[in-house]
Amino acid sequence: MVLSSGSDRKNEAGRRREDTKMSEHFVTRYADAEATLRIPDLHQALYDADTIFLPRTVVCLHGKDHIQKKRLFMGVFNRSFFRHYQNHVFPAALKETLDPVIASGKGDMAKFGYRVLVNLVADSAGVDRAHTEKDTDRLLALIGKLGHAPTMGQLTDPSDRDRLLAELEEALEAFRTEFFEPSAARRRELITRVEAGEMDEKDLPNDAITAQLRQMPTDDDLPYDERVKDGAFFILAGAFTTANVLMNTVNEVLDWVDKHPEDRQHLIDDPLLMQKFIWESVRLHPASPITKRRALCPMHLPDGHEAEQDEFVTVDLTKANRNPDLFGEDAESFNPYRTLQGRTPLHGLSFGMGAHSCLGKMLAVGVQITEGNKDAEETEFGTIHMVMEALLRRGIDRDPNRPIKIDESTTRRHFITLPFRLNPELASQPA
Ligand code: HEM
Repeated sequence: MVLSSGSDRKNEAGRRREDTKMSEHFVTRYADAEATLRIPDLHQALYDADTIFLPRTVVCLHGKDHIQKKRLFMGVFNRSFFRHYQNHVFPAALKETLDPVIASGKGDMAKFGYRVLVNLVADSAGVDRAHTEKDTDRLLALIGKLGHAPTMGQLTDPSDRDRLLAELEEALEAFRTEFFEPSAARRRELITRVEAGEMDEKDLPNDAITAQLRQMPTDDDLPYDERVKDGAFFILAGAFTTANVLMNTVNEVLDWVDKHPEDRQHLIDDPLLMQKFIWESVRLHPASPITKRRALCPMHLPDGHEAEQDEFVTVDLTKANRNPDLFGEDAESFNPYRTLQGRTPLHGLSFGMGAHSCLGKMLAVGVQITEGNKDAEETEFGTIHMVMEALLRRGIDRDPNRPIKIDESTTRRHFITLPFRLNPELASQPA
């Protein structure tokens, strides 16, 4: 999961190595990375710089506290949630974002991607909205500001830090009053009605805020401030990562169908092939290029090095995912028809591994699609698949008048703009 573009500046690894006087270990081989992420005595350290927003969220907790919060959220993501989401919530959220694009015949993935994903993930978090573009953009702006939290410790100018801290507090307060509190209040009222026997339990919303209110109802069970931050973090973790993967996938697919036009229709018709394209894109461009841990005690690392207590271990997911010994000599290039030996997933380590592995993987990319389940009505395809299919059906194409712009200063490919048009000649469904 990536929370900001500032944390992955290309020169950052070198700078940190200097700051920490060589006490940081870098893991780049796939097998070592996988084994390292499973070590229980390595504590999450990627977001250490942020002292306000993330410390009590699931991604930073460790041990029992982590297990407790993760279980609660995992309880939300059950099969009935996904089915309801895919069949009811998703089509409405997609339509809401797609309609203006269809009306104008063009769009920009750098806006569309975030809008569609923030709408989808806000529903699973349990954050109610007015369902207008203005409202979506307001939520996006607030969550975007919170995405700067983890980089604060790396700022050299202290006045910048004060300014960002103030902005962060402001964004959290605005998120609380404008989005969180009205959503939580509505849910508290519904829960009271269920408890009074006036409403059926099955009619309660199935989302993260409701789950927390039901299982940890009082502020003694879970402080109010922590609930607000959990709600905001859920949207940040889910929407921003998935939007990044979606943009990279659109970009790779448009290049691919340019050279292999026959695959445009194959992608629409064959969910198994679509998943291969998505996994290949997420392997090459993990939304989080690195993850980082701190040793809680002296230990031997799987790559043969020793780590002292409090030393950092950085796992380079991009490099691990491009190991030629596992992914072949063409590991650096986009080849969705790649086949692998053994049990290595085609998406590599892009969803993490071990205790902190991604909670929302199924929501983003669905279950493993097979010949057996690809046509079944109940199969979960994941949000990226569904957005890609909708865009391909409407003939998504490069816009010849508006070139793409990528911010090359980060290892994570950040699209400044990724324009597209809906080309009626390529559409298999009228735009
Ligand atoms: C393609 C999209 C996604 C990618 C590539 C992705 C990637 C990741 C990665 C690499 C981690 C591990 C971070 C670490 O080890 O430090 C992670 C954790 C997490 N992800 Fe995702 N993620 C995606 C979508 C989502 C979605 C849709 C949600 C929720 C709606 C979500 C929620 C989380 C949460 C809550 C964690 C923290 C889990 C923990 O610490 O135990 N992610 N994700």
